Amino acid sequence: MIDFEKKGFFNIHTLLVKDDTNRSNNDNKHMYSQMMFGNTTSSMLSYLLNMNKQNLNDFKSIMFYNESNLASLINEAKEAEELLDENTIYLTKVAKKIKTQFSKVLEQRHSTRKFVYEMMDQGTFSTIVKFSFGLGSRKLVYDDLVASTRYYSSGGGLYPIDVYLYVNHVSGISKGIYKYQPYSHSLYPLNIEKIDSKNFFVGENIDIVNMNFCVFFEYSINKNFVKYGELALLNTLVELGGISHNFDLVCQSMYFTSCPIAGFNKSTIEKLLYLDGVNDHIVFTNICGKD
Ligand SMILES: Cc1cc2nc3c(=O)[nH]c(=O)nc-3n(C[C@H](O)[C@H](O)[C@H](O)COP(=O)(O)O)c2cc1C
Repeated sequence: MIDFEKKGFFNIHTLLVKDDTNRSNNDNKHMYSQMMFGNTTSSMLSYLLNMNKQNLNDFKSIMFYNESNLASLINEAKEAEELLDENTIYLTKVAKKIKTQFSKVLEQRHSTRKFVYEMMDQGTFSTIVKFSFGLGSRKLVYDDLVASTRYYSSGGGLYPIDVYLYVNHVSGISKGIYKYQPYSHSLYPLNIEKIDSKNFFVGENIDIVNMNFCVFFEYSINKNFVKYGELALLNTLVELGGISHNFDLVCQSMYFTSCPIAGFNKSTIEKLLYLDGVNDHIVFTNICGKD
């Protein structure tokens, strides 16, 4: 329903300035036309205008990656990055059978921001995490190298996205932040003492009290920039869309729902996860709960 009081008040000419030092061009339409005329810059527009333009000095890197099979070598070695010690929480290896018809899952998928409280059992959690972010059984063999694959495609097979999870209500797993380790299908606790989930998202419309868990997607620039240069960001965001949508569909197929969220507090989450915010960025989030 349209709130008519607000409708009169908040039209596009209403001035809502959050930054007092920005007194010029505060009408968005004006800013847009100045951008189109080239009188002002926009990082987004210049990225699009220069899409596929490589700022790398040369293309040796792309050829080197392709010719040397470097992605497979990195892929094989990635397993060694995982922390396996007495703190590691191994998730159930055998996934639950997804019985929901695929067309039903597509029909029923929807974004949910309010949930009812229901403890998620660990088998369901493990299945959602595995099919969304884990390794598949399919292997790619390149000469003498064997590369693992996932349930989503990845630019150059470099898998630049890592996943952190805030677990809220999952049976047998304490509330807290964990890094997901796909090779061992395990969680590694970050042991962060003070976590205020109220600060994760912008605004009040996300039900952080009843959600079962939420996902923070981390992009590390060094994982694909050296190969792709400026194209790396586009590739990564497209890949991320695939991952996040897989997550939406898998949640729905397990009778839970999700909501992709761009309105997250980037620097707050990065600080919490000890990410530098320069090479390592939180670029998207998603939540899961029961509606
Ligand atoms: C890239 C992207 C960013 C989104 N960001 C937010 C967000 O910050 N907050 C929110 O409540 N919903 C967010 N959503 C969910 C959309 O509002 C939702 O997908 C849209 O309204 C369509 O509804 P449906 O998903 O139920 O079909 C986002 C969705 C996408 C794909």
